[in-house]
Amino acid sequence: MLNGYLAPPGLEETLERELKNIKRRYGRLFLGEGESHFAQNIWHDAQIIPFTSISDGAKKLKALQKLWAYYPYSHIRRGQLIAEQLPYFAPKPILFPTPLPTAPLGSWTLIDENTILASAHCSSPFAHGEVHFQETKEPPSRAYLKLWEILTLIGVRPQPGERCLEIGASPGSWTWALNRLGAEVIAVDRADLDPKIAALPNVAFLKRDAFSLGPEDLPPLDWVFSDAICYPQKLLEWIPRWGRTKMVCTIKFQGNEDYATIREFEKIEGSKIFHLFHNKHELTWVGGT
Ligand SMILES: C[S@@+](CC[C@H](N)C(=O)[O-])C[C@H]1O[C@@H](n2cnc3c(N)ncnc32)[C@H](O)[C@@H]1O
Repeated sequence: MLNGYLAPPGLEETLERELKNIKRRYGRLFLGEGESHFAQNIWHDAQIIPFTSISDGAKKLKALQKLWAYYPYSHIRRGQLIAEQLPYFAPKPILFPTPLPTAPLGSWTLIDENTILASAHCSSPFAHGEVHFQETKEPPSRAYLKLWEILTLIGVRPQPGERCLEIGASPGSWTWALNRLGAEVIAVDRADLDPKIAALPNVAFLKRDAFSLGPEDLPPLDWVFSDAICYPQKLLEWIPRWGRTKMVCTIKFQGNEDYATIREFEKIEGSKIFHLFHNKHELTWVGGT
């Protein structure tokens, strides 16, 4: 059976380059097979379901499972009428930290007037892989949403009193988020931190090149974070210095994504790689968790 791969808005061409065997495309949804790092949600074993009326369509979806997220593509009014006959599902922005939703959530769309494309087994527990948080204006930028999202997805986060190194920390939204969890943060950047963040208790700032830093220069750490803008290769060479410390690093691509380098990240023991809803042309690598 084929899978559906939902591209993040604006990354349709990236997904087209990544997927080897695309059979059909419905807006941002590609029907095909194989592995994907960039899909925002994967509809595993997508089924073609013919139906005769709105209530028949809803009945056939309900027979598969309870909760469904509708991806509007064609015959949108008809799709909305089917959605109205399904159990109510309108997720609200979540408060961080909140555990991952556990209720199975399917995805479906209409590909013509009498045909549903649906999957009861999606890779993301969030509708269309979109993780919406209750936002705050306290930190200097919205970058903290990436950190909240990855810590939500992996289900572990720095605990009060744990020590974190964070490189490429300025202006300081991740530092703010780590500090709010009660962690101690050693923030490193060549540019200054926002003065409000630098003044937070339990935040120390080192203004210097981060990649010359190693564990021998610092007290023992529980976590290492990087959102530094750098070539992926540089990060790849730096990561092994930290052994089995829990790590969260953004892999930023300068031009087209580089799959040979992605494979090198995957080879690191215990690696997980995500394309977050809040990632743009970048991936998030996690190790040691
Ligand atoms: C995208 S910003 C980080 C934003 C940050 N995560 C936040 O939440 O505010 C990337 C940062 O990486 C820093 N950077 C790039 N190369 C660096 C290096 N070799 N050493 C230290 N900082 C570096 C830049 O100065 C920049 O502030």
